[in-house]
Amino acid sequence: MAHYYMEPSRTFSEFLLIPNLSMKDHNPANVTLKTPIVKFKKGEQSDISLNIPFSSAVMQAVSDDGMAVALARSGGISFIFGSQPIESQAAMVRKVKGYKAGFVVSRSNMTPEQSLKDILALKKVTGHSTVAITDDGTPNGKLLGIITGRDYRLSRDPLTKLVKDIMTPFSSLHYGKSGITLSEANDLIWEHKLNCLPIVDEQQKLEFLVFRKDYDEHKENPSELLDSNKSYIAGAGINTMDYKERVPALVEAGVDVLVIDSSDGFSEWQSETVQYVKANFDVKIGVGNVVDREGFLYLVESGADFVKVGIGGGSICITREQKGIGRGQASAIIEVAEARDEYYEKTGIYVPICSDGGIVHDYHITLALAMGADFVMMGRYFARFDESPTRKLKVGNNYVKEFWGEGSNRARNWQRYDSGGKQSLVFEEGVDSYVPYAGSLQSNLDKTLAKIKSTMCNCGAKSLEELKQKARITLVSATSLVEGGAHDVILKDNTLSGE
Ligand code: IMP
Repeated sequence: MAHYYMEPSRTFSEFLLIPNLSMKDHNPANVTLKTPIVKFKKGEQSDISLNIPFSSAVMQAVSDDGMAVALARSGGISFIFGSQPIESQAAMVRKVKGYKAGFVVSRSNMTPEQSLKDILALKKVTGHSTVAITDDGTPNGKLLGIITGRDYRLSRDPLTKLVKDIMTPFSSLHYGKSGITLSEANDLIWEHKLNCLPIVDEQQKLEFLVFRKDYDEHKENPSELLDSNKSYIAGAGINTMDYKERVPALVEAGVDVLVIDSSDGFSEWQSETVQYVKANFDVKIGVGNVVDREGFLYLVESGADFVKVGIGGGSICITREQKGIGRGQASAIIEVAEARDEYYEKTGIYVPICSDGGIVHDYHITLALAMGADFVMMGRYFARFDESPTRKLKVGNNYVKEFWGEGSNRARNWQRYDSGGKQSLVFEEGVDSYVPYAGSLQSNLDKTLAKIKSTMCNCGAKSLEELKQKARITLVSATSLVEGGAHDVILKDNTLSGE
């Protein structure tokens, strides 16, 4: 006989937080949103913690290298979409790992044996007045000198004059060492009145140039999510079909965390994939999605570093309509968080969980965190911003961005959904849609984070850990939902005149 869950499946909108006593120091400025994303033992720290509990969805319309850089800069993580050829996904990861705000790879380079004529020709093409002179003329060759417009006089120097006789040689240059931060580089620039500071490694090989003019634009963000080399942390999605080819390429590109992207993760395929990755690579791997205790424990026993929770709640998702599987996101999180805590009690191993999909209002994020999620994953939220990879269009009077599901025909993501080996979907599990354009990631994030921190203060919590322990959450009735919005007033809008 079938097993019945007679309690209804609940969504975030059915709950509210009840304030606790706030003390004077419950001030948003004192709140930290730091959160672990990979498993750790009691008394130890997670190898990777986010500075804000946000990840962007493994979706073509959301997470490319541009979003990954923007979100890591703000303290979160993107999982670059896996529904693309292995080489292009690895190239995106490589870009994120190689990106350093304010540090640019030199684009005008020459060898010492070239001439002033060559310099002028190059300048005409690139427009750059600073040329790096390296032994092989490449951007990362051994740095031998720098030439700027101040090093030659066109009225006097013959065009045949050699670069090596014009350049300021390395022995006279001020330079920064590999690993220097942007603010340290900026200090050197000011101290020595430079326009450009080359950064070299121990073999004198050129890594980057830092320009005086770039500092204000790229000032370091205190929340940036960096690895020990000061590169951004990068995540990437994989599937349970081509992982033996995809994972090595992603690891080679420097990926920090993988996640298996699947609409239903409670499967032997996922277990096998995690075990393969853990046996062959030193890389973190999350799995999912599941919606109950059994699914969570199965994947944890398989070796998962974190578990993603949610089936059918995504904004573009039609899985529930098409297949009749899924669970209200709040109910799923509550049950899995309880299983995670029991597992921790029993084994001393904490396995973070991610609430994936279904976030509509900013307060849903706070609720997910209060219910026990360690971080959230969002698609629609991020798709609205300048940094998402899709086109911005004008539809009627409104600007929108394109946003489609990984289970829509448009994504052509055969690996995420079981199509019986066919290169087509038998039926779709996602739609192709628009979302309202909302501007830049940072300006939206600032508001969302301010709301979360403010609510945490209302709940008497200065950390997410404290929020989980102290939160008091109430179910709301259908009629009290009406009470929650503006009601029984005439809203002012532009159509009213004569005031
Ligand atoms: P959102 O934040 O509500 O937009 O949900 C995003 C999540 O929806 C993703 O992280 C995926 O878990 C899920 N998802 C993405 N594409 C599809 C789809 O086509 N069908 C069902 N779920 C999807």
